[in-house]
Amino acid sequence: METDRGHMSWLEAGAGWPVVLLHAFPLEAELWRPQLEAVPQGWRFIAPDLRGFGRSIPPSGGSGLTMDDYAADVLCLMDNLKIDDAVIGGLSMGGYVAFAMFRQAPRRFTGLVLADTRSQADTPQAHEMRVAQRELLRTGGPPALAEQSLPKLFSQAAAPEVIGRTRAMIESAPAAAIDAAMVAMMTRPDSTPGLADINCGTLVVVGKGDEITPVADAEAMQRAIPRSTLCVIPGAGHLSSLEQPDVFSRALADFLVSPL
Ligand code: MLT
Repeated sequence: METDRGHMSWLEAGAGWPVVLLHAFPLEAELWRPQLEAVPQGWRFIAPDLRGFGRSIPPSGGSGLTMDDYAADVLCLMDNLKIDDAVIGGLSMGGYVAFAMFRQAPRRFTGLVLADTRSQADTPQAHEMRVAQRELLRTGGPPALAEQSLPKLFSQAAAPEVIGRTRAMIESAPAAAIDAAMVAMMTRPDSTPGLADINCGTLVVVGKGDEITPVADAEAMQRAIPRSTLCVIPGAGHLSSLEQPDVFSRALADFLVSPL
């Protein structure tokens, strides 16, 4: 679809109340394929490709994007789809985008899902790691980044097929989009001070073995958000929605009908 902010693509399934699901870095809407295949009756799941990923707007100048840009893109897509408000959720970087959307337009949230993500900004150590990753991307391209990242995205028991699908997503992502997203993550603000102001029901979900955004971060967010509940998924690492799709989809479906 052509929008005021450029071409935006998305996957969707189901009909009814909208749920917007934002993918992790450096993936695409396909991340949510298992959830799109298990949409509960009465709901419509919409999974946008964030700018530069999948078939969405190619990034223009490489590195000038912020989380606010990705957030404005998704709000613009919602406008074009005539969706005033929705349950909005994101996994990891998708969660960072959801925080930015909440800062820009809290009234558009009927609920929030924070999956395998964190509210804090990058630490100096994380900043250094991203500088090194940008260099790895420059020299080795997306395949080198995939090789380095994949072991941290799943638990030891992850199915090879799931790892293979994720590798294919990373390797097909444009280097410019990956680089722009890294810069946006490095410069994102701390969302922790705003947690107490989140006034919609919130599901915090995390893989028990998540090494990138560990359970302790999820617990801290859940304690700080007034109407929130925590679901820890056993047998899953960082990409919990892919590694334990049935458990994740059940937690999401239960949340959607909960009175939080
Ligand atoms: C992600 O899965 O989106 C990234 O690991 C997030 C990050 O690097 O902070």
